[in-house]
Amino acid sequence: MWRKWLGTAKQDSVNLSLVEQVKQKPMPQHIAIIMDGNGRWAKKRGMMRSFGHRAGADRLRSIVRTAAELGVSVLTTYAFSTENWKRPAQEVDFLMKLFWEYLDNNIEEMHQNQVKVRFIGKTEELSPALYEKMMAAEKKTANNTGLVLNLAVNYGGRAEIVSAVQKIAQEVKEGTLSVEDITEEALSDRMYTAGLPDPDLLIRPSGDLRISNFLLWQLAYAEFWFTGINWPDFTSEVLLEAILEYQKRDRRFGGLKNK
Ligand code: FPP
Repeated sequence: MWRKWLGTAKQDSVNLSLVEQVKQKPMPQHIAIIMDGNGRWAKKRGMMRSFGHRAGADRLRSIVRTAAELGVSVLTTYAFSTENWKRPAQEVDFLMKLFWEYLDNNIEEMHQNQVKVRFIGKTEELSPALYEKMMAAEKKTANNTGLVLNLAVNYGGRAEIVSAVQKIAQEVKEGTLSVEDITEEALSDRMYTAGLPDPDLLIRPSGDLRISNFLLWQLAYAEFWFTGINWPDFTSEVLLEAILEYQKRDRRFGGLKNK
């Protein structure tokens, strides 16, 4: 159980029989989420987009806790893509402040609950102060043994593949890797997610049916689950619903049906 609830935000109440049902079958080890629909959620309520992002951060906090309690091993969430810089400077600035605030408000609680926080993406291109704060959060939680939380910030799936290929080319050039050793595993080992299992389940709220340059390499055999609910309305019960649906899927990984 989650040890301590430090903040004031209320945790989702979940239907316990739904939890029991989900626990009957294997849990997805790795869940990836594209946290979409914050802007639309705010617009519907006549509010500024920033309200939606703040509400989205609140959801993330609850979903992290629920995923940890369910025994999910890895949760990877898309917070800011390499393409999001095209948004108005005011929105970008707000998001950067929100990431800062999120760490301020949640790192202690996550640490106490054994969450290992990691940032994936070109975080070194963010402001030096934010980058340092992110690295400090990673360092603080590095030895934790519970949920691995990957926060994708300034992340692009193609850029990640390019960077893995560059590392491999460099190693071949230096003579530490032979061409025959360039395998799928070798590439996986040079991704931000090296050492982690690939996502079993990708969730995208808010109705768009695309993956938007997220984990292109890692999602090869993931099950996709889409919902029209916007991210700020994404409760722990919706997460349970997605997992239940995932548990009904017949995953064949290119092999034959075994049912
Ligand atoms: C996409 O919704 C959402 C984002 C670009 C930002 C996601 C950020 C959070 C949920 C904040 C919490 C994250 C962390 C790491 C603290 P959108 O703005 O594209 O919504 P729209 O498609 O409805 O316009």
